[in-house]
Amino acid sequence: MSSVVLTGIGSLVTNDPGRGAVSGGARPDGVAALGEVTDAAIVIEGGKFAWVGRRADAPAADSALDLGGRAVIPGFVDSHSHLVFAGDRAEEFAARMTGTPYSAGGIRTTVAATRAATDEQLTANVARLVTEMRRQGTTTVEIKSGYGLTVGDEARGLAIAAEFTDETTYLGAHVVPPEYADDPAAYVSLVTGPMLDSAAAHAKWVDVFVEKGAFDADQARAILTAGAKKGLGLRVHANQLGLGPGVQLACELGAAAADHCTHLSDADVDALASTGVVAGLLPAVEFSTRSPYPDARRLLAAGVTIALASDCNPGSCYSSSIPLCIALAVREMHMTPAEALWSATAGGAASLQRPDLGRITPGAPADLAVLDAPSYLHLAYRPGVPLVAQTFLNGRPV
Ligand code: NIG
Ligand code: FE
Repeated sequence: MSSVVLTGIGSLVTNDPGRGAVSGGARPDGVAALGEVTDAAIVIEGGKFAWVGRRADAPAADSALDLGGRAVIPGFVDSHSHLVFAGDRAEEFAARMTGTPYSAGGIRTTVAATRAATDEQLTANVARLVTEMRRQGTTTVEIKSGYGLTVGDEARGLAIAAEFTDETTYLGAHVVPPEYADDPAAYVSLVTGPMLDSAAAHAKWVDVFVEKGAFDADQARAILTAGAKKGLGLRVHANQLGLGPGVQLACELGAAAADHCTHLSDADVDALASTGVVAGLLPAVEFSTRSPYPDARRLLAAGVTIALASDCNPGSCYSSSIPLCIALAVREMHMTPAEALWSATAGGAASLQRPDLGRITPGAPADLAVLDAPSYLHLAYRPGVPLVAQTFLNGRPV
């Protein structure tokens, strides 16, 4: 097994607070949590981090790569995306920008296009988007189904997603498809019955879009409970378009994540804080739908764990860019650059219950991004600039 030492790392974010120059006590800006090491080096062996520390202390390795003072951060862990789809909704976006509000109804347009697509077309679309994500520093991505909405199309979407990630999510409960418009109860029976049976083989998680125009609390409880019985972990699309029961349900059922969290009552914030359910914030959605951003400071003040994710999908947010999410979280949601970076790496890992990811520590998979910048601060400071020079996945450049 050959080893490589990456040297000349101007600033290394480890997300291991024990390592940083800044330590001791919680700092309000979240910097201590990053465990930042300056003038650092990393040794990678067998696809994992073998050693992490100051360059001056680095052990010898079979080969060396000098990064010339660039910053290194953990690869982004994008805990929410919908990549299995065909077509786009550029016209819907254009109409939105001149005043037509976003609604869940547009999902049906993509469902029709996705059902009509071949396996090859869908696979190529996921491959294209995953490549786009890798170029922007994402090393782990959760991928949902949800644009098939038949037994065969949901299983097919998940099988395709599973070619690209272990973090696959069954979202048969995205909306009620047109053929069940007059009988939503029959659709819920399908989602909790035969559709779940065939989806479960390819899925790790089950998710429900809890919203007016999608699924209510009772329907969602039935779907999530059925998924849990099949061994799937729980995720919820919660409180995106208005106040609603999604967050409370996620907390009641012990979900890993309640995502969106744009409209929260005080009781919702308390429930997230007391149960430890991770709040997924998806600011590129608010950017793309011209909606108010979630109140990240309120959540942080309550001690809620935040994951920043893309929600890449053809409707509410056709962006795969976690650097964009970080810039928006800082500029629009008043997160500090440190809080935003942590949430897009270790926070994403918490959302996916993957403590092995999102940190640069010995034994962890060697997933990282090299920035064409001296520090992670530039991710928010230089919005829109392609700062990711190289992404490493399991120790290899991708
Ligand atoms: O997370 N909210 C539900 N689903 C997606 C949007 C899907 C679409 O508009 O196609 C979301 O925003
Ligand atoms: Fe979503």
